[in-house]
Amino acid sequence: MPNRSEVAYFGAGPAPLPTPVIEKSAEAFVNFDNTGLSLAEISHRSSTANKILADAKDALAQLYDIPTDDYDIFFMQAGGTGEFSAAVQNLVGAWIEKRRRKAIEDLGEGKDAEVLERVKKEIENELKVDYLVTGSWSLKASQEATRLIGAKYVNVTVDARKSNNGKFGKIPDEKEWKLTPSGSALTYLCDNETVDGVEFPSFPNSLEDDERIVVADMSSNFLSRKIDVRKYGIIFGGAQKNLGIAGITVVIIRKSLLSLVPPPTFLHALSSVVPTSGCLPPIMFSFSTIATNNSLYNTLPIFNLYVATLVLQQLVSTFKEKKVSGQEEVADRKAKLLYETLDTHSQLYHVVPDKSVRSRMNICFRITQQEGGQPDEAKEKEFLAGAEKRGLLGLKGHRSVGGIRASNYNAVPLENVQKLAGWLVEFAK
Ligand SMILES: Cc1ncc(COP(=O)(O)O)c(C=O)c1O
Repeated sequence: MPNRSEVAYFGAGPAPLPTPVIEKSAEAFVNFDNTGLSLAEISHRSSTANKILADAKDALAQLYDIPTDDYDIFFMQAGGTGEFSAAVQNLVGAWIEKRRRKAIEDLGEGKDAEVLERVKKEIENELKVDYLVTGSWSLKASQEATRLIGAKYVNVTVDARKSNNGKFGKIPDEKEWKLTPSGSALTYLCDNETVDGVEFPSFPNSLEDDERIVVADMSSNFLSRKIDVRKYGIIFGGAQKNLGIAGITVVIIRKSLLSLVPPPTFLHALSSVVPTSGCLPPIMFSFSTIATNNSLYNTLPIFNLYVATLVLQQLVSTFKEKKVSGQEEVADRKAKLLYETLDTHSQLYHVVPDKSVRSRMNICFRITQQEGGQPDEAKEKEFLAGAEKRGLLGLKGHRSVGGIRASNYNAVPLENVQKLAGWLVEFAK
């Protein structure tokens, strides 16, 4: 059996963790801090658990410069996929609540029937959620929105496949996006598409609008580059790539969104125009409930949170005042090495996404018979088998797209990327 230092793992998620984090977590699982108890055995309401939670929030706020007067941080369960649903339910609810309050303001108190009729009409005529579909995960999120509230309310602002021969791999020019002019309940994007290797190079200019509530799935590029949190209504990510292990999801949310919670009876009365399941989240998915209870409305898996806390604290102590920009430099350097190696041998390797949107986290490529030729699956198998022999693991592309995918997450050390680059060169020869 090889030991940890003999394998270089490039899996797309769950992903590698820093070895010191693995070691400290393993100790904590057996005997946390000399208490004689496993961290998995202690109460999520204990002072120990509360400290782990406070430390996680504190480190994350430092790394991303989160303006905590205006933004809240909390942890949930149900993964990134849970947020596909929760984002719609909470933000469509918030949109309705804004309209309800405005109707009361205009029509006066005690006009319940008139308020209800007016909001119903507004929903039918104006409710929209905008989705930028740039890869498999934003597609799934848009499909969940359609399932919850109905296609009528879902505006696929852009479907990147349409301008790229039916495949993901490019982000069309912003001029081609069909954004709802103003007042959509949310504008959704997936910052890094893990399956397709497509990453937004930066925050889109056309979303720079104070009224727009941008929801960003950062599951697979969380903590890998500097961002301006203020541009987003919600940032979320499943932990199992750059943050920790599966079981918790981080949410960073603009606090003003948390107070817009409509009365459930009002939402029930709207069911002829919008399904209640699309605007009234189950209590575990209610952002305001989770925030009010400091992530502890129900049992949060504290061991999983602890792993994330250690990752966050390690980033803080490694990069100090550079914060997440320090990690960004490392991520960029590793990605550059891999893309340069692939481009140097373009007779054999074909990078799938367009140069303008190449992901720094998930490097997706095909092996071809000749430059610009069709993928050669036999050669890809050979490449993967040779990689495995050299301890380079987790390189098979997603089952839906095939090919090779090297995931360059934060905990993948430079020397492992160098080993992979070495194998790319050797194989090409
Ligand atoms: C970008 C992105 N979003 C969402 C998901 C779904 O996450 P989960 O499996 O935690 O539901 C993934 C999973 O790989 C992902 O990469």
